[in-house]
Amino acid sequence: MTIDLLLGLQWGDEGKGKIVDVLTSNYDIIARFQGGPNAGHTLEFDGQKHVLHTIPSGIFHENTENIIGNGVVIDPVIFGKEIDGLKPYNIDFKSKLLISRKAHLILPTHRLLDAASEASKGKAKIGSTLKGIGPTYMDKTGRNGLRVGDIELVDFIQRYESLKGKHLEMIKNYDVDIQFDIAELESEWFAAIKDLKKLTFIDSEKYFSDAKLAGKSILAEGAQGTLLDVDFGTYPFVTSSTTTAAGACTGLGVSPRSIGDVIGIFKAYITRVGSGPFPTELFDKDGDTLAKVGNEFGSTTGRARRTGWLDIVALKYACEINGVNKLYMMKADVLSGFDTLKVCTHYEYRGEKLDFFPYNVEPENVKPIYESISGWNEDLTAVKSKDEFPENLNKYIAYIEKATGIPVEVVSVGPDRTQTINMI
Ligand code: GDP
Ligand code: IMO
Ligand code: MG
Repeated sequence: MTIDLLLGLQWGDEGKGKIVDVLTSNYDIIARFQGGPNAGHTLEFDGQKHVLHTIPSGIFHENTENIIGNGVVIDPVIFGKEIDGLKPYNIDFKSKLLISRKAHLILPTHRLLDAASEASKGKAKIGSTLKGIGPTYMDKTGRNGLRVGDIELVDFIQRYESLKGKHLEMIKNYDVDIQFDIAELESEWFAAIKDLKKLTFIDSEKYFSDAKLAGKSILAEGAQGTLLDVDFGTYPFVTSSTTTAAGACTGLGVSPRSIGDVIGIFKAYITRVGSGPFPTELFDKDGDTLAKVGNEFGSTTGRARRTGWLDIVALKYACEINGVNKLYMMKADVLSGFDTLKVCTHYEYRGEKLDFFPYNVEPENVKPIYESISGWNEDLTAVKSKDEFPENLNKYIAYIEKATGIPVEVVSVGPDRTQTINMI
């Protein structure tokens, strides 16, 4: 039995939540392997919209187990609110949502450190979601972190106090004014820890080894996207986890040999939220149209997303790093109405023409080189099969397949579950 992966190939928000929900009926287990409440995964069905942050996107399917892997970081307060928001669905969380003991906990002071770090950077800020992600992963790799399994230990409070003490000292070293009431934050956090303790904790590496022996099918759900990967993204304007395929192995405790399909998901154009370089960013009417028609506002923070034409250089880079063998193209409907679409095929890098993603993609180093492709006017949102696709959409898809050498197996034409077109 293999484990399939579903990963974002851009700067996040590609539509992972929607697709995981659609694919869940094919799998016994859905597993999140990295990130935390910085993620916002949107699902739409039966006229309802849901945004999940830490809970895997398979949670609405009755017969599926959902795992939060060791690579995830959990804020018990946000997590508790997510669970409360799903009360009307009568989900049996105790049996359907299993949490790795090795997942790290986000403390209230991690969030404060995130805020202090960003404030101190001024204009150079990352544009973090301020959920405490960076400081929590720093404590993990710095070997100071608190893990979910620690909640079961008798000295949990002492461990918490010791880490909190370190954080409060660190906050003093920042030359910024961060207002907080630690007693209030703690009372909310410990109440949430009490609720978290009622759920089921597992050793995920053992769980997956048993699941594979039992022949269960598993889909690993990525958060963020390849260009936000801590190693391969546009560093330092990235998140603090491994968002690429390798992260699924370390974030669940499964071996590289157990990976099956690697599904890469991308928008038919591209967006970014937060700071950092973005070679194909548009500052014109076309960019505004993509933002408006695509309703490009962050699912976690509500911030406006920056928009641009599809960047094939970045897409090929992401496919290569992840070993993608199937592509899913999202938001094709948003491109309806453009006479001409552009795709970036190369970068002009300090006077040289490049077809790969270089170390430095800042605007002073890189200018996009575009090819124009004819657009289409037909509304796609009610399309039910690929036979109804306009010819120019087929040409756009064929162009991407040729450039990447990978088949586009699904095209999404709207946010709802049903607006998902199979190409094979
Ligand atoms: P994720 O973080 O990758 O799960 O993506 P988000 O949920 O943050 O952002 C994707 C947004 O696009 C959500 O609002 C989805 O409801 C919406 N969406 C997903 N697929 C489509 C699509 O094919 N067309 C349109 N118009 N919207 C889509
Ligand atoms: P999903 O899973 C889009 C961005 C932030 C910021 C940078 C660092 O919904 O695709 P962090 O909070 O991790 O310190 O922020 O990464 N970012 C995302 N952008 N989608 C996400 O998740 C993101 N998670 C983080 O905007 O630029
Ligand atoms: Mg999102």
